Amino acid sequence: MTFAVLQEARKPEPIRVGLVGCGGRGTGAAEDVLNAAPGVRLVALADVFPDRIAKCREHLVSLRHEGYAVTDEHCYPGYDGWRRLLDCGIDLVLLCTPPGFRPLHFAAAVESGKHVFFEKPVAVDPVGVRKILASGEEAERRGLGVVTGTIYRHTRKFIETVRRIHEGAIGEILSFRAHYNAGALWRYDRKSGDRDLEFQVRNWPYFDWLSGDIVVEQHVHTLDVVSWALGRKALRAIGTGGQAARTGPEHGNVYDHFAIDYAFEGGVHGLSMNRQIAGGHGEVGAWFVGTEGVASPYEGTIAGSKPWKYEGESENAYVREHSDLIESIRAGKPLNEARQIAESTLLAILGREAAYTGKTITWEQILDSDLDLTPPGFDWANPDPVRDPPVRSVPMPGRPREARTA
Ligand SMILES: NC(=O)c1ccc[n+]([C@@H]2O[C@H](COP(=O)([O-])OP(=O)(O)OC[C@H]3O[C@@H](n4cnc5c(N)ncnc54)[C@H](O)[C@@H]3O)[C@@H](O)[C@H]2O)c1
Repeated sequence: MTFAVLQEARKPEPIRVGLVGCGGRGTGAAEDVLNAAPGVRLVALADVFPDRIAKCREHLVSLRHEGYAVTDEHCYPGYDGWRRLLDCGIDLVLLCTPPGFRPLHFAAAVESGKHVFFEKPVAVDPVGVRKILASGEEAERRGLGVVTGTIYRHTRKFIETVRRIHEGAIGEILSFRAHYNAGALWRYDRKSGDRDLEFQVRNWPYFDWLSGDIVVEQHVHTLDVVSWALGRKALRAIGTGGQAARTGPEHGNVYDHFAIDYAFEGGVHGLSMNRQIAGGHGEVGAWFVGTEGVASPYEGTIAGSKPWKYEGESENAYVREHSDLIESIRAGKPLNEARQIAESTLLAILGREAAYTGKTITWEQILDSDLDLTPPGFDWANPDPVRDPPVRSVPMPGRPREARTA
């Protein structure tokens, strides 16, 4: 056998990838998957808006990557573009739209037998979380790979620190702090002629039904680290929050700050804080306090009776998460992170609802809740671009959720 024939025989099975949601993260994820493993071909793009597909394509073309193979025929605009993309012969789909669409897109991807990378968070309400759990189980039955965008689970520094926490390096865990205190976020300026639906979908972080609010959309990263490191059940939450700096209609109906107190099994209590306001002190991290020390996965450190510091190389976890997924598929042991991200998303929703209502809310209450943020009459699968989804008012702690007007 010649060397060339041997090389050909060793080539991995090609993986054909399609992207749904060609915005900032989707474009990044498409680039990352191309760099994650040999034999990856990016073949299709879908987005509601043709201008987003065009911008994404322009970037991907500029990379001159040999795996880039998107033709005009495989670009799918419109609210139903994702359906056509799922039917175009791909093996793996990247779901990178606003999270409100995720339960629908994930279910359809699994039903059509696709491996899935989906961005965090994966739902905005408990009804959506339960759909993700069901589709995740179906993916398991079908042997499909499912990886999500909680990058820290694929980052060596975090993996090593959390492993040490689990092995008892800080003794019995007593408490934690989890912060995502950031500056202002990007915002889409409304253009004349934009209908409400287009404005809301383009400006999605500011509408509860599309983003789940900042604690779900952004802070889920940190709460996922909490859930992972503690490895035990959340019991309940109380919280507060509001709009301090972002008060105009362009900021929709979400808060710009939250403070939530979580109780977990085993007497563990922790404070979670999340802010998106310009000019403040920025701090993102989680600290775990135990009977024998303090661990910080973000810093890769343990202080106390067994001090330790991560000395390994830093790596690009945005690429690593795709490499891990593809390696697991090719090895016939596909990863399935659906339950893990569904539960972290629900942990964030629990905190949000505690803050919105001003009430103590338990894990069972939120898990069983019928809360569905879909605007009245809105069809996720086939939105009517002319019928504008009403915007709920900004939640007021202490006022029952039902009392909020549409
Ligand atoms: N893991 C991370 O570090 C990270 C970082 C940024 C964003 N994200 C997540 O990625 C997701 C996307 O965020 P983004 O910053 O890229 O937002 P974005 O607005 O830049 O991109 C979202 C894209 O989805 C498109 N879209 C909306 N509804 C759609 C639908 N029904 N079908 C097809 N396309 C649709 C929009 O037109 C837009 O192009 C969010 O869930 C966000 O939380 C994760």
